[in-house]
Amino acid sequence: MRLLVLGGTVFLSHEVAAEAVRRGHDVTCAARGTSGEVPEGARLARLDRTDPDWSVLEGDFDAVVDVARTPSWVSAALDALGERAAYWLLVSSISVYADHATPHGSPETLPLLEPLWQEDVETTPETYGGHKVACEQLVRERAASSLVVRPGLLVGPGDPSGRFSYWPDRLAEGGDVLAPGAPERDVQVLDVRDLAAWLVDCAEQQRTGVLDATGWITTMGELLEAVAEGVGSDARLFWAHPGFLRRHQVEPWAGPRSLPLWLPEEMGGMLTHDVCATFEAGLRTRPVAETAADTLAWLRTPAGRGQVTGLARAEEQDLLDDWHLTTLGASAPHA
Ligand SMILES: NC(=O)c1ccc[n+]([C@@H]2O[C@H](COP(=O)([O-])OP(=O)(O)OC[C@H]3O[C@@H](n4cnc5c(N)ncnc54)[C@H](OP(=O)(O)O)[C@@H]3O)[C@@H](O)[C@H]2O)c1
Repeated sequence: MRLLVLGGTVFLSHEVAAEAVRRGHDVTCAARGTSGEVPEGARLARLDRTDPDWSVLEGDFDAVVDVARTPSWVSAALDALGERAAYWLLVSSISVYADHATPHGSPETLPLLEPLWQEDVETTPETYGGHKVACEQLVRERAASSLVVRPGLLVGPGDPSGRFSYWPDRLAEGGDVLAPGAPERDVQVLDVRDLAAWLVDCAEQQRTGVLDATGWITTMGELLEAVAEGVGSDARLFWAHPGFLRRHQVEPWAGPRSLPLWLPEEMGGMLTHDVCATFEAGLRTRPVAETAADTLAWLRTPAGRGQVTGLARAEEQDLLDDWHLTTLGASAPHA
């Protein structure tokens, strides 16, 4: 297969290109080359999508994989390459949905945000989702044949967001660990390498339609147990009530002073999608323990150093001290 990856220098698009090279495909990555290098065996066609010179790309492609989030970039790529590409795979996001509260949603059941075409706006979760809806519309209307894949939370080596990575990093250190909310809260993650392998399967098979892509639902307690197993940790988890975390200005999800992967209750559907159709379409996932071990190994390389978000250790210790005081020692550790 002659595959064009629009991207290919970082995380998911890099992994898609690497997987396709491993399978013997002819892979070109079109990017500026500023985020990183393309995998060995892939060709870099230098191109800046803010002012693209498409003449760097010659010939026809059996498949294009695009990770863009800017509608005008997708539109320009379709103008330039639409007639030379048999199949278009757009990596979108579950952020396209207008409803993040209802659990077990799927493309058939969840409403979408309105498409957002205006691009000179500050990036927020809503503009990101609205832009992706517009990107999806363009691909579905104009590509000869297409698949739209909407990933949930992607994790694993190379993750620039640091959200999942906080947990292998923290649990590997051991001791008393502050964990967010209830251990029985549902959560879903997907190793970037499993998604990449399945995207290459889809391109090979020219699978069409719209599918969410994330792992099976697990609980936050099971997830952190698997992470602990993967990194060989005997840390003790203390599950702090959401009210306690809010009172102490702990942020959900990501960023400074956050407990990563913790979501407000009204977002309870975001990490509980029904992905039966995606597994029927061939997605296969590795154990979370393996993802955690590999993520920790990557965090210990020069490229991975410091690539975590979330609470600083001193902030966590202060919170643990307060939590122990609040519960007067009544909170038994939950391993
Ligand atoms: N991470 C998650 O949990 C998550 C969840 C849901 C969906 N997603 C989706 O998954 C995909 C992730 O893709 P990704 O990991 O490859 O990262 P990305 O940040 O979405 O894309 C990065 C790629 O785009 C290229 N790029 C950026 N600016 C460019 C420009 N001006 N001209 C040409 N190329 C440009 C970069 O190359 P250069 O900088 O080298 O040019 C790089 O190869 C995205 O579609 C994202 O929306 C992610």
